Amino acid sequence: MNKLVELVNINKFYKLKDQNLHVLKDINLTIERGDFLMIMGKSGSGKTTLLNLLGFLDHFTSGKYIFNEKDVTYLNENQRSELRNIHMGFIFQQFHLIDSLTIGQNVELPMLYKERNHISKKEKSHRVDKYLDTVGLLNKKKQTPSELSGGQQQRIAIARALINDPYVIFADEPTGALDSETSEDIMNILKKLNEDNKTIIMVTHDGDLTKYANKVIHLKDGLITKVD
Ligand SMILES: Nc1ncnc2c1ncn2[C@@H]1O[C@H](COP(=O)(O)OP(=O)(O)OP(=O)(O)O)[C@@H](O)[C@H]1O
Ligand SMILES: [Mg+2]
Repeated sequence: MNKLVELVNINKFYKLKDQNLHVLKDINLTIERGDFLMIMGKSGSGKTTLLNLLGFLDHFTSGKYIFNEKDVTYLNENQRSELRNIHMGFIFQQFHLIDSLTIGQNVELPMLYKERNHISKKEKSHRVDKYLDTVGLLNKKKQTPSELSGGQQQRIAIARALINDPYVIFADEPTGALDSETSEDIMNILKKLNEDNKTIIMVTHDGDLTKYANKVIHLKDGLITKVD
């Protein structure tokens, strides 16, 4: 009942001109609801590829994916984006905020998808304030991303990831562009979210961060070599 994700024999190939690059090899992985899972491994080991296919941002070549007790291996793009928008939040190394929008508008963005049409303007505005407050930056609502520090921008990206109240947060090297003190602030926010029952799936290079996780998988050349 508590399984959120099950990957069965997942393989991923990239077809290049003169070769077939085998980037994920027979991946079997179970993620429970409430897990704080970290995916570790060297550059090029397949971490981002794995995270992206878990979040329906990319496709795998063979194998089976069960999400939320449903076989999601053969969903079409509409079904994939619907699940993504409703259940999943994303945080990236480079924040991916839009500088022509205010902080408040950036945080509101994931509510503009059609699946969110039913939310009233008042409720949207309430939620923007609520999640900006969660990350401690309500006072920056009217500013633009370039006026904020890197750590503040990542906190805004976290508020944006939370706005649809997803139950799983995907984070690809969320502290990769930050100094160690600021990284700790971000990790503490993620830890708090995990304590509030969000499942966190995070990619990192940084072995010091594994203390935040309850489960760590190590990838090497597309293979899971170790699970802690
Ligand atoms: N679109 C693509 N086309 C072809 N090959 C790709 C593509 N994306 C990734 N790869 C290759 O797949 C392998 C895994 O890449 P991936 O981005 O998953 O690694 P990573 O572990 O996230 O690395 P990093 O720590 O540098 O972000 C690498 O060999 C990479 O060159
Ligand atoms: Mg990567």
